[in-house]
Amino acid sequence: MIGRLNHIAIAVPDLAVAAAKYRDLLGALVGQPQALLEHGVTVVFIDTGNSKVELLEPLGEDSPIAGFLAKNPGGGMHHICFEVPDLAAAAARMVAGGARVLGEPKIGAHGRPVVFVHPKDFDGVLIELEEV
Ligand code: CO
Repeated sequence: MIGRLNHIAIAVPDLAVAAAKYRDLLGALVGQPQALLEHGVTVVFIDTGNSKVELLEPLGEDSPIAGFLAKNPGGGMHHICFEVPDLAAAAARMVAGGARVLGEPKIGAHGRPVVFVHPKDFDGVLIELEEV
């Protein structure tokens, strides 16, 4: 059922500072910032070869990562995203196993349907499932 690790998302208080670290200290391929208004974040994608890191900075008043950064002002790992071939089947399997799926599937930052699974049901880690 599980596919590739699509990305690890890290919420950061300052996108430019964080992106510079990945570029200068790790020598990573760092993309340009993209403002995703409908998702309430500005994102920088980092190509790690076998996966991606997404640096997320809040955008706008109702950013979904504002609360996380209030609790973790220095930044921190926000979620990890796994690819699945069939999102509805994956979500149903989660629910059947007692894990809380947060809301209905919606179109994620990559233009594909995603759902999130409650971190309390996954060892403290917010899980994103993306249909690929
Ligand atoms: Co994500």
